[in-house]
Amino acid sequence: MEADRKTTRVYRVDPAAPDPIVIETAAAVLRRGGLVAFPTETVYGLGANALDPAAVEKIFAAKGRPPDNPLIAHIADRANLDGLVRRVSPEAGLLMERFWPGPLTLVLPRNAAVPAVVSAGLPTVAVRMPDHPVARALIRAAGVPLAAPSANTSGKPSPTEAAHVLSDLRGRIEAILDGGPCEVGVESTVVDLSGPVPVLLRPGGVTLEDLERVLPQVETAPELGAEIRHPLSPGMKYTHYKPSAEVLLVAGAAPAVAGKMEELVQQQRREGKRVGLLVTAELGSLLDRDDCRPDFLGHLGSRCDLTEAAFRLFGLLRECDQKKLDIVLAEALPETGIGLAVMNRLRKAAGYRILQAGQPD
Ligand code: TXA
Ligand code: MG
Repeated sequence: MEADRKTTRVYRVDPAAPDPIVIETAAAVLRRGGLVAFPTETVYGLGANALDPAAVEKIFAAKGRPPDNPLIAHIADRANLDGLVRRVSPEAGLLMERFWPGPLTLVLPRNAAVPAVVSAGLPTVAVRMPDHPVARALIRAAGVPLAAPSANTSGKPSPTEAAHVLSDLRGRIEAILDGGPCEVGVESTVVDLSGPVPVLLRPGGVTLEDLERVLPQVETAPELGAEIRHPLSPGMKYTHYKPSAEVLLVAGAAPAVAGKMEELVQQQRREGKRVGLLVTAELGSLLDRDDCRPDFLGHLGSRCDLTEAAFRLFGLLRECDQKKLDIVLAEALPETGIGLAVMNRLRKAAGYRILQAGQPD
């Protein structure tokens, strides 16, 4: 693989007015079967021509992605949907109407024109219409749908800045369009509409409450259901976003969580370990800074508005890696609105290890 190392060109693009020459340069790479990372409102995507199986194969190789994990096809216009899917259910129509363009991915019956490799052989295909001017301009200029997973090395946090993409994929892809930081910060919500009842497969930028306002019924995927019904139950197998430090979630009433974190920081530091904390402003204000001196303190914003936690989360997890921490203690957050998506990612990063401080609330 190292034999065909590429020169990765980084192009800055103003999201307010993407330069058509830069967009066309990147689109030409895609049409030739190459790989281009581009910003979306959620995270950076690693794009290839979704209708070219050889190009799509390169995505799996560049990311080290397991071949059984299907990709999302990105479109810019509703007219592009027909070539990708066989059927659009009334529920799917409602969701597109309400949330496209935006951070919502719909799983629909796959049209035979879509190469099987995009969907890892499944009879369905995931489709999303992103709401980012650079993504939209690139898809239109390429003239084809773009298969695009998050532009990280498989197993790392998704990239929310071009620098994250470069650090993971330099030498493995042709180009990166740098449109600045991604607004949402966690990936799109994935809803399966191929069966009789819509099923939430991954919480994301469109909240479960948003979906419930539009759909008469939404189910949750079994593993996600277990998370939501028993939000603090450990022992689930996935570790998807795995920082090099050990991550531990600390749950409970704020004063108890602060007390537990202080105790753990002191204990770990006595053992010569490097400790990081990821906390909201409210929890941070309860920590005794004389007793509790972590090696890294990451701010998740306010508990009252978790959009900031979503925006910052993946960048903070990457910083924890850079700071060579041994252990990261993260505050468990309320699971309402975007909090559900943030906690889903944090639980995975923690390998589902959750410590209850004080009595469960
Ligand atoms: O926000 C996002 O969705 C970003 C940006 C780039 O659009 N993309 C992204 O892609 O997060 P990726 O590949 O990292 O995550 C796609 C998720 C995976 O969990 C995958 O298993 C699921 O969507 N998925 C894709 N196709 C599917 C299908 N046909 N059936 C069920 N799940 C599918
Ligand atoms: Mg991903």
